Amino acid sequence: MKGEEWYQADDVAESYDEKRFSRGGQLIDKREKRAVLDALSPVKDREILEIACGTGRFTTLLADRGANIVGLDISEPMLQQGRQRAGSAGVADRLELLRGDAERLPFPDDRFDAVLAMRFFHIADTPTTFLSEMRRVTREQVVFDTFNDYSTRMLYNWALPMGSSLYTADEVNGWVERAGLELDGADHDWIIPYGFFRQAPSRVASAFRALDRAAVGTSLGSRLASVSYWRARVPE
Ligand SMILES: C[S@@+](CC[C@H](N)C(=O)[O-])C[C@H]1O[C@@H](n2cnc3c(N)ncnc32)[C@H](O)[C@@H]1O
Repeated sequence: MKGEEWYQADDVAESYDEKRFSRGGQLIDKREKRAVLDALSPVKDREILEIACGTGRFTTLLADRGANIVGLDISEPMLQQGRQRAGSAGVADRLELLRGDAERLPFPDDRFDAVLAMRFFHIADTPTTFLSEMRRVTREQVVFDTFNDYSTRMLYNWALPMGSSLYTADEVNGWVERAGLELDGADHDWIIPYGFFRQAPSRVASAFRALDRAAVGTSLGSRLASVSYWRARVPE
């Protein structure tokens, strides 16, 4: 598992948001939050679990929108950042952040309405194991993202400190089926991969994002997208 030790370091946790979601990275944060809200809405009073919740970007957002949310992560330093974020957002008493391993979720079957995993499967060697656990504890829905194989992300993936696991749509379909779920929809985005936006100043990033959005709206562009946001449901 690529990130299990990496994210235990205090300095990694403290610089996590700044490195990824400042400057042009704000566009990424915004897009991911829209994907999560589109998939899970209406969230008010829904029982939601976020695994690998990290510094709590989505946990805090969902608590603020009225969900009953639990965030779970294996890294205490990442959770510590999450507690600070929840405190600053005034929602600390509306969420629970727990240390735990997503491979063995400490919850009974069907405990939640929905389970979310963002930016997790690209560090997981065996997403199927995690997806099966997510399926076990949900009554209705599972939401996650992947970084795509045969996409522009391949251009720089090799240069990253951990690299990322890149997956095809066929692989994702296989995991979903094996976990006993049904695919309910997907959005494919970002021909220019996240790495570019993280480095670019905000104005440059916004200009390129406008081009990127136009291109990804075409059928060829959609096939070149580097990120997919997936929605799966428990069959009736
Ligand atoms: C790239 S971060 C993503 C954090 C958050 N989901 C986000 O999008 O900002 C990956 C997270 O997975 C967590 N993680 C790694 N292995 C885990 C495991 N086995 N169980 C739970 N969390 C894990 C790491 O501690 C880290 O916080």
